[in-house]
Amino acid sequence: MSTEETLKLLASSPKIDPPQTYRAHSYCASADAYLAKYRASIEDPASFWTEIADELVWQHRGDTVISGEMPDFAFFPGSTLNVSENCVDRYAKDPLYRNKVALFFEGENGERRSLTYGQLHREVSKFANVLKSLGLEKGDVVSVYMQNLLETYVVLLACLRIGVLYNTVFAGFSPEALRERIVSSGARVVVCANGSYRRGKTLRLKETVDAALEGPHRVEHVVVYRRIPGLDTPMTPYRDLDYDELMASVDSTCPPAPLDCNDPGLLIFTSGTSGKPKGIVHAGGGFLLGTYAYTKYQLDLRPEDVYWNTADIGWLTSHIFVLVGGLALGTTTILYEGAIDYPQRGRLYEVMERYQVNKLFSAPTAFRMMMKYGLDLARDYDLRSVQLLVSVGEPLNPEAWQWMRKAFGNGQVVINNTWGQTETGGTPLASLPGATPMKPGSCGVPFFGHRLEVVDAEGTPVPDGTPGYLVIRNVFPSLARGIFGDRDRYLQSYFTQVPGAYFTGDSAVRDADGQFWVLGRVDDVINVSGHRISTMEMESALITHPAVVEAAVVGQPDEVKGAVPVAFITLDQGYVAAMAAGSDAGGSDGSDGGAGAGAGAVRVRAVEERLVAELKQKVVDDIGSFARPERIHFVDAMPKTRSGKIIRRMLREILRDGEVRGDVTGLEDSDILEQLVLDITGSPAAAPSSTTEG
Ligand code: PRX
Repeated sequence: MSTEETLKLLASSPKIDPPQTYRAHSYCASADAYLAKYRASIEDPASFWTEIADELVWQHRGDTVISGEMPDFAFFPGSTLNVSENCVDRYAKDPLYRNKVALFFEGENGERRSLTYGQLHREVSKFANVLKSLGLEKGDVVSVYMQNLLETYVVLLACLRIGVLYNTVFAGFSPEALRERIVSSGARVVVCANGSYRRGKTLRLKETVDAALEGPHRVEHVVVYRRIPGLDTPMTPYRDLDYDELMASVDSTCPPAPLDCNDPGLLIFTSGTSGKPKGIVHAGGGFLLGTYAYTKYQLDLRPEDVYWNTADIGWLTSHIFVLVGGLALGTTTILYEGAIDYPQRGRLYEVMERYQVNKLFSAPTAFRMMMKYGLDLARDYDLRSVQLLVSVGEPLNPEAWQWMRKAFGNGQVVINNTWGQTETGGTPLASLPGATPMKPGSCGVPFFGHRLEVVDAEGTPVPDGTPGYLVIRNVFPSLARGIFGDRDRYLQSYFTQVPGAYFTGDSAVRDADGQFWVLGRVDDVINVSGHRISTMEMESALITHPAVVEAAVVGQPDEVKGAVPVAFITLDQGYVAAMAAGSDAGGSDGSDGGAGAGAGAVRVRAVEERLVAELKQKVVDDIGSFARPERIHFVDAMPKTRSGKIIRRMLREILRDGEVRGDVTGLEDSDILEQLVLDITGSPAAAPSSTTEG
């Protein structure tokens, strides 16, 4: 949606109250209750965070609640607690919960398993002992390259148990991208699955790890969980170890280590404005405090819920709302491996019906995909149990919102479009499902203890209804504590743009009811199906191809995925000519028989087609298949400023409108525009097109 469209929507959006049935049993049950508690939490955040802390298990609790200010702040400094104790032990030790299922696993191949809190406790303790037996200590890093599996949760909770920093890497990342993350985190151990099922295919994850470990690194061991027992899995002697064998050799008792609430707990890489991904560091205890509070109030999550969050463990969403937030609230969660529309389009519904899921958390892209499959498909299943649908990661458009109301829960479902970032370790904006009215398209209201503002370039708040930069004025426990090994980048990325505030990198507008509408990124990050990709990271991948002189990538709106990356390339004509001549040498009859220029153009076109395939593959190899450019346009020249910066806005406008509508005065050479439009749109029709779709 464009800013203009959002502003129109904002002015006309209906306000829909949560259904009475839902309200009756929610933690915050009215708009007035929300407002009163919100105001109190802003005036006295320490009291709010103490209230949350009182619901957790501490090993030692001192008097100080908040010390310092951003960027140097701490919550409960000197107080100690353990995340895994809060997520596992407290329930495993309680006779009422011990035999309650914590995690149900559904493999894409139909396999089903589960772990109760009691079983989870045993497995986590054992794997913590495995890590210790490998010589890992507090502060060491373990990289985890696994899909959603019970064992993935065991591994991560085991790390949290002994203060080892885990770093999950999405199992769709290429060897190059995985290598970058393993090496820059200084990981001593990698834990991976040997393979994973996705759309019926077998992905050989262990082989990706092997490829990633070619070249220097600090990894001493690779622990391999054999998810696919019959899969031929190459093992390097001494370095590679079998998960099951290690688990069979250790004791099942491991006390949770006392860890300072601000000690680093997890590390997760995300895309930033420059080419290199940022390793976001979250404090373990801080993350627990924050995620517990978000999950409790925004999902209204309770032990009796059957909850399914379809997020992959490679993204922070599942750490916030399942691994830590979900388990700390004693819920039962479904973990699903693979595609939610495989082997048949209704797989999502089938699983929901079987477990009688009442709370579903998924990405807007997934909801839009199900919308495309139609209401009839949804009606084939019993989805009446659904009370709450939650999404995060990208805008949830009103059409999808309306459709979701029809498809799930008898039209009574509450929809919560939450806004958050890897850096915020949670969702500072969301509805409170039993309290605040829903407005399709809005991201709801600020969470307790979070002061969000929309400001101009000077940091002055703008009036309601006016777009500006979204900032957060005060500290909260799950705000990132650093970028791994790069303090300067942490300060530069978040704390220099608006003095005294955390800069989100998003633009937003607040409406007269105090609800926030997020408009999109103001930097070079795009969201493709909720996967955050840096266009600069993609450009860095493209530019290293020998045929490429310049590369620019922009996001183009897409009905299902939200946005898709589109690349613009200027080619080294010498390289193209050489390739075309090369293909000539191998030509069928060795002569162009007077067809001359025509045959030459055909050859150039064939070279371009080959380059499109190679360039797309280059991005897949360097980043992963989810970043594959949707289209590649070869252009004669890029639109640039006088100082030589590519004006990506113009590329976006040509894609959207077929012309540049905005200001062109900043352009160094406006003569290029006509050709540029021709190169990109292929029209006027008479002109030869150099646009190659793929
Ligand atoms: O641009 C915003 C968009 O996603 C970005 C954060 O991406 P990531 O770090 O991958 O988030 C993980 C979620 C814990 C934001 O800067 N975004 C997130 N939620 C929304 C959104 N954009 C619009 N509407 C949302 N609800």
